[in-house]
Amino acid sequence: MTENYFAYKDDILMAEDVALDALAEQFGTPLYVYSKAAFTDHLGQYIKTCKQYETANLRPLVCYSVKSNSNIAILNLLAKQGAGFDIVSGGELARVAAAGGDPHKVIYSGVGKTPAEIRLSLEHDILCFNVESLSELRRINQIAGKMGRKARISFRVNPDVDAKTHPYISTGLKKNKFGIPFEEVLPTYSVAASLEHIEVVGIDCHIGSQLLDDAPLLEALDKILNLVNQLEEKGIRLSHIDIGGGIGIRYEDEQPVAIPDYLSRVFAKIGEWQASHCPDRQMTVMFEPGRSISGNAGILLGRLQYLKTNSGKHFAVVDAGMNDLMRPSLYEAYHGVKPVIKRNVPAQAYEIVGPICESGDWLARDRELAVEEGDLLAFMSAGAYGMSMASNYNTRGRPAEVLVDGQEVHLIRRRETPEDIFALETLVP
Ligand code: LLP
Repeated sequence: MTENYFAYKDDILMAEDVALDALAEQFGTPLYVYSKAAFTDHLGQYIKTCKQYETANLRPLVCYSVKSNSNIAILNLLAKQGAGFDIVSGGELARVAAAGGDPHKVIYSGVGKTPAEIRLSLEHDILCFNVESLSELRRINQIAGKMGRKARISFRVNPDVDAKTHPYISTGLKKNKFGIPFEEVLPTYSVAASLEHIEVVGIDCHIGSQLLDDAPLLEALDKILNLVNQLEEKGIRLSHIDIGGGIGIRYEDEQPVAIPDYLSRVFAKIGEWQASHCPDRQMTVMFEPGRSISGNAGILLGRLQYLKTNSGKHFAVVDAGMNDLMRPSLYEAYHGVKPVIKRNVPAQAYEIVGPICESGDWLARDRELAVEEGDLLAFMSAGAYGMSMASNYNTRGRPAEVLVDGQEVHLIRRRETPEDIFALETLVP
């Protein structure tokens, strides 16, 4: 939880042992601030619990979902702690490589892999492609053939389970674009098994994000194990099961399932299944967590520019906008807002908005705050899908990013300048 790593000390909000107002002075705002201890703790919960259940024939692999926060310093930190990576583009693969991540621990999901991205992945000899259609399978087979390689693949199965989360981040229902429809999975595997340059190694699913309860994930796992049995009967033997990411975090007052509890239920199910179906065979169990590792490991700092009242409604205008943190405008997502320095001034309910020329540019609504112009505000739980979804809309440079480690501060991405933003553009002669 953010509370542990971003807490008040003498009325000043800190990131670990560093006061956030000092960071704002040094690096300016808007500023993403991450806690190294939080990242280490959250990934550690996955890794330590997995270790408890590891046996000679049951191997876990935690593949951090790069899209949630893809700064190479973060990837490097997590790689050193033993993480593999779940990627969704050639760009993310390049990041993992630049961060010193092990390509043999990389799995590649996504419905739209291009030929160049497939080639790059084969050159890096990634662990597995999570294939989402027959056309993609054929393309991978063809490219692998030309390169004289065999591509390891898994199919992303759409288990038709309701993740009971926001429709934009629910991915495992029939109507979603993701994965192979449940009823087509068996024939699709048969096609794959017949292709020369394909090695069928696994099965995967990812049903959605910000799941507070693990029941839908366990339901999906039951369906997957059932498929593994049916494939086995057809002579197709898999060596890994990947059940995706999706565990939620506390933004406001949610009570998400604890990571160790969720994992222990997964391992109980898989252990029991393995004992009765394939006790002598080595299986790998993979996870693709993103938000539960990065979400509460970061905040966004913004400075209050103006307080204004329009027709009786109070607005607090900050220098961070929807281009810096898109989640509120895109999903009506809730992010806690805390003043960096607690003040003794009258509190008032504000809509907190950014400087972008869009009515949808808001970061928080109806928040009671005791603030004055010039104050710093912290937007909590912004470590996941914050900076990684930021844009340059309105030619605004994306925020700088710093990683705090105890009393130490590392600038892990400098602020973008206008020149950075238009550097790739050219005048017509
Ligand atoms: N694996 C796959 C195949 C995924 O599509 C995702 C997320 C993950 C793993 C990681 O899921 P997580 O553990 O973070 O829930 N931008 C949205 C979230 C989009 C999630 C997309 N897929 C948000 O800000 O809420």
